[in-house]
Amino acid sequence: MMSHTSQSRPRSIHVAVIMDGNGRWAEARGLHRAEGHRAGVASVRRIVEAAPGHGIDLLTLYAFSSDNWNRPPGEVANLLCLIEEFLESERAPCIERGVRMRIIGSRARLGEPLRRAIASAEAATHAGRTIEVRIALDYSSRDTILAATRRLAHARAITRDAFSRRLNGEGSARLDVRDVDLLIRTGGEQRLSDFLLWECAYAELYFTPTMWPDFGPGDLAAAMTEFRRRQRRFGTVQPLPAAVGATAEHWLH
Ligand code: FPP
Repeated sequence: MMSHTSQSRPRSIHVAVIMDGNGRWAEARGLHRAEGHRAGVASVRRIVEAAPGHGIDLLTLYAFSSDNWNRPPGEVANLLCLIEEFLESERAPCIERGVRMRIIGSRARLGEPLRRAIASAEAATHAGRTIEVRIALDYSSRDTILAATRRLAHARAITRDAFSRRLNGEGSARLDVRDVDLLIRTGGEQRLSDFLLWECAYAELYFTPTMWPDFGPGDLAAAMTEFRRRQRRFGTVQPLPAAVGATAEHWLH
């Protein structure tokens, strides 16, 4: 076992965020819900910028769930349009700051212009090494697990690692699945809403009443301070500092 101190600095932390509360933020100000989503995009920019300073090298953001198709068509169109604009406007700043953008979820139901914006943002930022930002779009964790299970229907013996590798698609769409270290949900609700269910098996959960448009770098810092205070045991009895994060396997064996 490797030695460590509680001051250990994390080398790589995966934070996932359920960015809830845009609509309520807008309604509380007498604004249209669309204004809440627009303010939410500004929050995304601020958090992406602040994240590397906390040792976060992977940030997964829940932008549009597969169940969000059930919202009024105008809101769906507005959200998808904002995401497309974001992918286009953030391409150059992301390249400059070493941010790699990737999209997880299904692309089958997305319009052609959005698919083009995704392909272009992913290709343009593929060399980014400071942080990877995964945007979950038409995403359902249950569907993702189901699809991986179907692909493996004929496999005789399958390990957790092998299953993990199959979780995030096939071919060029494939990317590494990483356990979530910290899951943040804004907006006061305390549930997972079909987000990264497999990856959150040992995630630390952090719920805050702050609405997503109000969630700024100071709130991220508070969440990270709380995360570092937690002790993770991964089912065993020996407490491990949260900072061990994604490398927990090395500490346990
Ligand atoms: C939940 O708030 C939020 C969403 C369904 C969408 C989140 C999207 C963004 C923050 C903007 C686009 C994202 C990116 C990555 C560019 P809600 O509308 O359910 O809020 P409510 O619970 O208050 O109604």
